[in-house]
Amino acid sequence: MHDDLRLLEAKTLQQTLERRLAELSASTGIAVEVWALPKGDIPDPVARNVYAAVSEALANVERHSGAGTVSIALTLAKSCLRLTVSDDGCGFPSGTTGRGLSAMKAYFAEIGGDLTVNGVPGGGTTVSGIVPPRALRR
Ligand SMILES: Nc1ncnc2c1ncn2[C@@H]1O[C@H](COP(=O)(O)OP(=O)(O)OP(=O)(O)O)[C@@H](O)[C@H]1O
Ligand SMILES: [Mg+2]
Repeated sequence: MHDDLRLLEAKTLQQTLERRLAELSASTGIAVEVWALPKGDIPDPVARNVYAAVSEALANVERHSGAGTVSIALTLAKSCLRLTVSDDGCGFPSGTTGRGLSAMKAYFAEIGGDLTVNGVPGGGTTVSGIVPPRALRR
């Protein structure tokens, strides 16, 4: 299959994220380091909500961070899904709030998970999320 068709027909979380990350890199010049993406199928609505959270995180990297590099790791081990998105940009002061930060947390809370965003002024930003096994069973 031609690569473009493969992208258009992307269905798994892994494929969808790969496409999103490639677009981010191409349109911004920010280097994307993919440390891990899950090979297995992730059930809906977990996949949808994780994608939505990553998308908000990447939008923030693009709009606010001035980062040179963003790294992503999404791993499925011991029936637990773990997400890290970190950038080496400007970070932000503690106490910062906003619609996007709240939305990311809400996407994880909705599927029984938990997400935190840690910005360090001058030291980049790390988004950490976890979806426990009970939330992945269905
Ligand atoms: N990766 C990041 N690097 C630097 N600053 C960030 C990053 N993520 C968030 N911020 C800071 O936190 C603020 C709040 O982020 P949030 O996503 O909630 O709102 P927003 O991006 O300003 O607007 P939107 O509602 O469109 O997402 C941002 O305005 C920015 O100052
Ligand atoms: Mg935002």
